[in-house]
Amino acid sequence: MSGSTPSHQSEQIELHKTLAPRYAYRYSFEYSRLFQQDWHAEMISHVPAGAKQILDLGCGTGFFLAELVEKHPGAVGLDISYEMLRVSDEYIPGAKLVTGDAENLPFEPACFDTVFCKGSLHHVRDHVAFLRNCQEALRDDGLLIMSEPCNDNPFIRLARAVLYKKSPHFHVDDQGFTRKRIVELCEQAGFQVTKVKRYGVLAYVFAGFPDHVGILKYIPGNALLTRFFIGLDRVICAIPGLSLLGFHIVIVGKPKR
Ligand SMILES: C[S@@+](CC[C@H](N)C(=O)[O-])C[C@H]1O[C@@H](n2cnc3c(N)ncnc32)[C@H](O)[C@@H]1O
Repeated sequence: MSGSTPSHQSEQIELHKTLAPRYAYRYSFEYSRLFQQDWHAEMISHVPAGAKQILDLGCGTGFFLAELVEKHPGAVGLDISYEMLRVSDEYIPGAKLVTGDAENLPFEPACFDTVFCKGSLHHVRDHVAFLRNCQEALRDDGLLIMSEPCNDNPFIRLARAVLYKKSPHFHVDDQGFTRKRIVELCEQAGFQVTKVKRYGVLAYVFAGFPDHVGILKYIPGNALLTRFFIGLDRVICAIPGLSLLGFHIVIVGKPKR
């Protein structure tokens, strides 16, 4: 597959200009923040002890980066969209933010202990190039920690394809990954995958995106209900077969060198 064309990158920049205010709205609900915080904690739980140099690739409006910076001061966020980063800048005063392209990283090789990507890989066209850049940016004992849309379930795959095609808030060419495919891509880019875990079912759908599915806004006790969904999702995602209901997949990989 060839790399993203300059026009694809411009389309991503244009798309995310309009999405930046939607993200601020999304995170303005307590129940939605509860779900996102649980998701972030799941990802941050994989950071190796003693990691200091951390990159959030495709950090967007910075709600994940803010939590990362609290635990790991000095973490750096990079995004192709200046508009998304402007929200990060307001939200995390003094954060280290870089406007740049994940397919052409402006960092020295081997300068990070951990690279995070939460929902950014599926936005580029050359997934292997993106992942190879992550590999090169990591030290020998570093870790890549990603969360990407999971398409293992045919119904989720179909729903996602329709949403991405019909909604102006997605790019029609973006798509999720099967577990098999994302592991293959990581291996092609020089990673040994050490953990794969599906994440997010009911809490993902009902609490994660009030800008798309807003029903919980009108339900009293929505924060409590979200906590219940988070717990139930954890059980579902731990049961082989049922875990296919997971909307995202968390992958951890270390560079093969
Ligand atoms: C779904 S959003 C996720 C944002 C953030 N990680 C979060 O979870 O809220 C995807 C992000 O990837 C960024 N992005 C898309 N293509 C990119 C590229 N080539 N290089 C860097 N960032 C990119 C977008 O601007 C957007 O902020």
